[in-house]
Amino acid sequence: MKVVLTSAAKKQERADLLVVGFFEDAPLLKEAAHGEPRFAAAIAAALKNKRFTGKFGETVSVYGAEIQTAQEAVVLGLGKKANHKRLCMRKATGTIIQMAKCRRAKQVRVLLDSFAAGEVALNDAAEILAENARLTSYAFDKYKTPAKDNDKIELETLELAYVKNQLEALKKAVAWGTLIANGTLIARDVINEPANIMTAAKMAETAEKLAEEKGFSCKLIEEKELEELKMGGILAVNQGSVHPPCLIVLEYGSRYKKNGTVCLVGKGVTFDTGGISIKPSKDMEKMKYDMSGSAAVLATFSALGDAKLPVHVIGLMPMVENNVANNPIRPGDIIRMYSGKTVEVINTDAEGRLILADALAYSERFHPKAMIDLATLTGMCAYTFGDKAIGMMGNDEKLLARVRKAGEESGQRCWELPMWDEYLESVKGHHSDLNNTGGPYGGTITAAKFLQEFVPAKTPWVHLDIAGTAWADSPRYDCVKGATGVGVKLLMQFLSDWAK
Ligand code: BES
Ligand code: ZN
Ligand code: ZN
Repeated sequence: MKVVLTSAAKKQERADLLVVGFFEDAPLLKEAAHGEPRFAAAIAAALKNKRFTGKFGETVSVYGAEIQTAQEAVVLGLGKKANHKRLCMRKATGTIIQMAKCRRAKQVRVLLDSFAAGEVALNDAAEILAENARLTSYAFDKYKTPAKDNDKIELETLELAYVKNQLEALKKAVAWGTLIANGTLIARDVINEPANIMTAAKMAETAEKLAEEKGFSCKLIEEKELEELKMGGILAVNQGSVHPPCLIVLEYGSRYKKNGTVCLVGKGVTFDTGGISIKPSKDMEKMKYDMSGSAAVLATFSALGDAKLPVHVIGLMPMVENNVANNPIRPGDIIRMYSGKTVEVINTDAEGRLILADALAYSERFHPKAMIDLATLTGMCAYTFGDKAIGMMGNDEKLLARVRKAGEESGQRCWELPMWDEYLESVKGHHSDLNNTGGPYGGTITAAKFLQEFVPAKTPWVHLDIAGTAWADSPRYDCVKGATGVGVKLLMQFLSDWAK
């Protein structure tokens, strides 16, 4: 699918579908009526008899020969002008793509200016349309045998027809939206790939290929070196797997070191059976998404390579499988971590924090000015926020505020949970320094308190629990069923603010 910008004043080819936005407290944009009197008349009639009022999500359409610029013209209600927010624009885009899919439309034209109001400037509308159209047209269908007649009809062109000529700004907005979507789709692709394919080694191979393509560096720390480094957390979790573990180290923009290094860490459990403390079988197949944090880090590097932002970023992706095949860790085992601290494994299903702990401690050599980790860490976080927010915890007010702001701007909201010292008590060990679980209550926070014990001194750090946001059980306005690719847009927003 390609996104093109055209002037609404110029006559274009007849599209399959024309979509015009309509605010309930404003008249139909005159450019929509212009040249399409039958369309304008139909809308006026629908408004008069209240078949259509312009409330958010309502539609009315005219189909057939009486429409000149398209086979069908749809007017889409957007609610009140002042209430129009970027989130509304994302939802409206979702509706547009859904309409295009149902109608098997190849060419869709959107009258761009009819979507700009309230918080949404013309370039915001263009960016969101370009981004979200890609996100919602995505399908992970490589393992599906194509139908014999193969008459798949897909959206080929999304045309953004503008009235106000701000072409340069609009081009930039479309390019940014496309770049973010492409990054997000890379994350989705590696997450949706099943665990029999996407092993640690395959993830490493994918990272090396992307590094080559996009111009960042990728270094692998493989099993032998992990042993030499005494990365006890990573090695212990992977003990039950036949696939070797690795720590993938990415670096982008070393010439921008003077602006302060940012370190991104992502949980990379290619499959989480729970280990000896095995998970119930219901929904276990979804646990291939337990590497969504590492996928977001890798995909962000890919997007960084495209965007060429002036920032120095280190990526750490500890890759393991939490399985019971080989010589798995047992509850009660005490392991020595990379940092030297000892941990008693109370529950082998709390494995994410063990691998992250080693990666967080390893960051010390890069002296980061900010560190952000992303992890599908606790089921409790999904229970708390559902898919509506990322759980955010950290040790530095300023960094927390920056991430919160990036969350609001990107639409990937981050909501803070407290990190009071009292929560640390429950992960303190009896025969060891720490336990890997903190009892049944406050699980999202006690997991973060555990991680905090491995963050190098004086390193501003934010932990993002994406357990509830990294997977969609059903299609949404911004994604299809499966991996969402959450984190890429958030991190790109954070990093472009950091670069300013
Ligand atoms: N990968 C899971 C967390 C998870 C659960 C993510 C559901 C997405 C959906 C993690 O490794 C885990 O199993 N955590 C345990 C921790 C507990 C044993 C303290 C959990 O959340 O139950
Ligand atoms: Zn687990
Ligand atoms: Zn896990």
